[in-house]
Order: sequence, then C-alpha cells, then structure tokens
Amino acid sequence: MKRLLILGILCLSMPFARAGVLEDIVPRPAEAVLLRGSAHVSGLPFKCDPAFSPDVQAAVGSFAARLGYISGRTCPFSAPPGLSEAFAAGKVKGALFLRDSSLGPEAYSIEVGSGSVIVRASGSSGILYSLETLRQMLPAAIYGDKVAEKERWTLPCCIIRDEPRFAWRGMHLDSSRHFWPVEEVKRYLDAMAMYKLNRFHWHLTDDQGWRIEIKAYPLLSQIACWREGTMVGRDFSSNDGIRYGGFYTQDEIREVVAYAARRGITVVPEVDLPGHMLAALSAYPHLGCTGGPYAAWTRWGVSDQVLCAGKESTFEFLEAVLSEVAELFPGEYIHIGGDECPKDEWRKCPDCQAKIRELGLHDDGRFTAEQYLQNYVTRRIQDFLATKGKKIIGWDEILEGEPAPGATVMSWQGTAGAVEASARGFDAILAPVSHCYFDYRQTDDPDADEPLSFNGVVTLERIYSLDPLAGVDPAQAHHILGVQANLWTEYISTPEHLEYMLLPRLLALSEVQWCPAGQRDPERFLRVLREHEFPVLEQAGFNYRKTINQ
Ligand code: ACM
Ligand code: ZN
Repeated sequence: MKRLLILGILCLSMPFARAGVLEDIVPRPAEAVLLRGSAHVSGLPFKCDPAFSPDVQAAVGSFAARLGYISGRTCPFSAPPGLSEAFAAGKVKGALFLRDSSLGPEAYSIEVGSGSVIVRASGSSGILYSLETLRQMLPAAIYGDKVAEKERWTLPCCIIRDEPRFAWRGMHLDSSRHFWPVEEVKRYLDAMAMYKLNRFHWHLTDDQGWRIEIKAYPLLSQIACWREGTMVGRDFSSNDGIRYGGFYTQDEIREVVAYAARRGITVVPEVDLPGHMLAALSAYPHLGCTGGPYAAWTRWGVSDQVLCAGKESTFEFLEAVLSEVAELFPGEYIHIGGDECPKDEWRKCPDCQAKIRELGLHDDGRFTAEQYLQNYVTRRIQDFLATKGKKIIGWDEILEGEPAPGATVMSWQGTAGAVEASARGFDAILAPVSHCYFDYRQTDDPDADEPLSFNGVVTLERIYSLDPLAGVDPAQAHHILGVQANLWTEYISTPEHLEYMLLPRLLALSEVQWCPAGQRDPERFLRVLREHEFPVLEQAGFNYRKTINQ
C-alpha cells in the first residue's frame, strides 16, 4: 500500500460532514483522500459478507445497531448470501462489508460515496479497524449511549486505505500490585480496541500478589494472592496493615481472553520468573533457596527472595503452572518475565551452586555464573513451552548469557536492548522506560496537581516522539515487532486513577504504533486531542487527563 497521506487535495466542498473529519482520525490512517460530497448514514442498511466469521458479523451488526439507536433511525443489518456478486452487478446499496483476500491481514479500505459505504478487508482485524475508523469519523456521540438525532450523521465522501506500521501494538497492565476486577480489565480492553491496539500484556504474578488460579497449585489462589498490608504513599518503612488480595479464576481468564479476541486483541500472559516470585514462595516455600518462611510483600520494589534454580521441584512447579497458562491463553507467546532477578540467594544456596558446577558455569568477565544460571532457567522454560507450541518473550535481562534462538526480547531499560537483540537476530518489542512507562507522571511541572505516581515523567509529547527504529540496522528492522507501553500499578489503586494514567497517553502510543514513519505530526495530534478525542473519551465514559501541557 502506498504510504502517502493526501488530504484535502480534492476538498472542493463538503456540505454536511464535520470539517476536518479525516484529519481527526486517531490513529491517523496511512492514506486518506477526501472527495466531494457526503453520505447520510443514519438509517443506512448494513450488509456483511457471510464469508466473514460470526464474530465479524456480530461486530458489524452491533455497530449498525448502535448507529441506528444513537442517530435515531434504525440501520437494518443482514449478511445476505452472494453479497459480493450482487455488489459487482451494481444491485446493492448501503454500507457493505466485503471480503477482499488481496488485502493484508490487518489492512482495510473504506470508500464513501454519496449513498454508499464500501469496506473491504481480508479478515476480522481489518473489519474491526474499519469500524473504529468509521466511529472516529462520526460525531463523538456515537461513543456514548444517549440518542443524538440532531447531530450530523454523515460521512464525508473519501477513500481510505490503511494498515498498521507495526504488528505488535501492545499495552500492559499490572494486576499484581493492585488487582483489577474483570469489569475494569474489559474497560481497559475497550480503550485499547478504540485505538487499534492488538496485544494485551497481562502481568499476573509478582512479589506483591499472585493473581491467576492454577489447579495444580491451589495455594496460589488461597495464600499467594493475599498480602497483609500495602505501603502508604511513598513510605517504604510501614504499611496500612489491611489484608489485600484477589485473583482471577480460570473461567474469568477465559472470559477476558474471549472478550479481547472479539476486539481483535490477543492476551499475552506474564508469569514473571525466576525473580518477582515472593508471593508464590509464600504459598510454596520449598521452591525458594532457604525454604522460608516467606510472605507476599507489603511494600514496592524487588525482593531478593527468588525461585531456587538448583532444585528440580522449581521446574516441576513452573511446568505445571505454564501448562495451565498455555491452555488458557491461545496466543503464540507467553511472557516469562526474567527481569530484576537478584542473585544474592543463589550465591549462598548449596543447590544453586551445585547446579552451577554440574552445568560447568563460571564467571567469564561478561556475565557471572549466576547470570548464566538464569539463562539456563530461561532456556529450559523456553524448550518446555515449545512443546506446548508457545514462544517466549522476556524482558531485556534475558539477553544476559546466551538466549536461545526464537526468544523475543521486550526492551524496557531503554531502546538499546532492542537494538542489540535485533542485531543478534532476535525479535524485539520496544517498551522503553524513557517513553513508554505510563506509571510515570504526565507532566514535568512539579507544581501540577497530579495524583500519586512513580517518580519519573513521561509526557504525551515524549511518548509521541519515540522513533522505534532509531539505531536499528535497516537490514534488521524486521526484527522490531512493535511498540508497547507498560502500566505498573504500585501507586494506582482505583479504576479512575488507572484510566487517568492510561489516557490520553494511549492515543499518542497508538500513533507511534500505527502511523507510517514520518507521518506523525505533534501539532495536529494535540489539536485533534483537544477538539475531537477529549469529547470521544468523555462520551465513552473514561477518566482521562484533561490538561495538555503547552
Ligand atoms: C520492569 O519494569 N522491571 C520490566
Ligand atoms: Zn537455590
């Protein structure tokens, strides 16, 4: 697809549609040409090619139902046999969703003529994205639930050809430090879907709480999901003494996975190992180097109590847990963490040291024997998951030692990890703390009245300025799968606060992930936020930061 934005070239007159409609779409489409005239869509019949899956038909049907309801004139929906042939013969009008296998898996096109809307895509992702684009082109009332007959329910005549720059358009959520009920997770997924993100990285385990039911290890959801208090504000020396916990049953996990799938989002679970495991140790102390006792942490930070890498029981545990995780999450990747694993315990542990000797590991000036021991754990788990048909993703630290071919690196410490990984032939995803940590404050104004957050700053402008391929050898650029932002929740305990940290930064992220190189425009983006996206977020009922620094 030609990656050119040709806006306004044919802007001769546009009597009914909202001015600047194509400019206001977030994320900005790869190519959008404005034509003369507009199409009324209230009451328009919607017809979907029956060759699309039932989920696609349901998505188009519910779009039509909502448009009909909000605009005050029903939009009848059908999936008639022979739709493509009838269209080719010029016998059918309305909003038509046609299958076009020549388009890429995430691509779509929209052609709006004076009485018709023709959407083409090869599969479900393209159709879902086309629906989001159409919503973006309509009055913001389409995101709400109130009838708004008086709005202008028209689309400008146009041609849009669109597909994303990156295949991995991720957003992460930490459900360990604070637990998010299924309903809030669904709202989070709704926000992601609105801006065409397609990977939900779900951080389910950590020192402060284990959040997923595992049938083979029932104490994880009886003991490991609880902590005896939570630190207050930034006071690391005490906690509130209030028991805090929660976990997702396997049925709830399946519900979230299915909900995400209907929105084109794959859920990528993270079981962080071998560090960040204190909560699991509290339930199964034999998995640690000392045997405990252990308790899920009541403060933030990284515990130096980790899984013992010298005992076979650790691998029995991990294999049982990951077998159930692999069953629950149908995506091709499982994130195995690997970050911030202190090695103090391993240095003192006879079992870990015996393992190091057995494997012939030693410090070689580049890495320590204990770093190579973590590498051994990573490889063993990678091999195990391969038997389940899964690939691993790990944080930067899996580059320590020699990662096995096929591992994907999620680069959080900066962008250097992704540059190095791609140079070494590994796939990589960018989630650099410098641009993509949404637990950081949104302004560098120290006097701004901001909620509690991690003590760093990631402004809208900062995330928007990320150049994902900076420093990457063009010959290795195909290894950069995409970009993701992370939302750690140490300092975030309510849905309102969570949404505030997510929005509107998610929108800036979406343009980094979606838009062709060189097509982002910060001035346009900030204007569109103010004029179009804030009303959209308002109508959709999200809490968001309403101040734009400048
Ligand atoms: C991380 O922020 N420790 C991945
Ligand atoms: Zn040990």
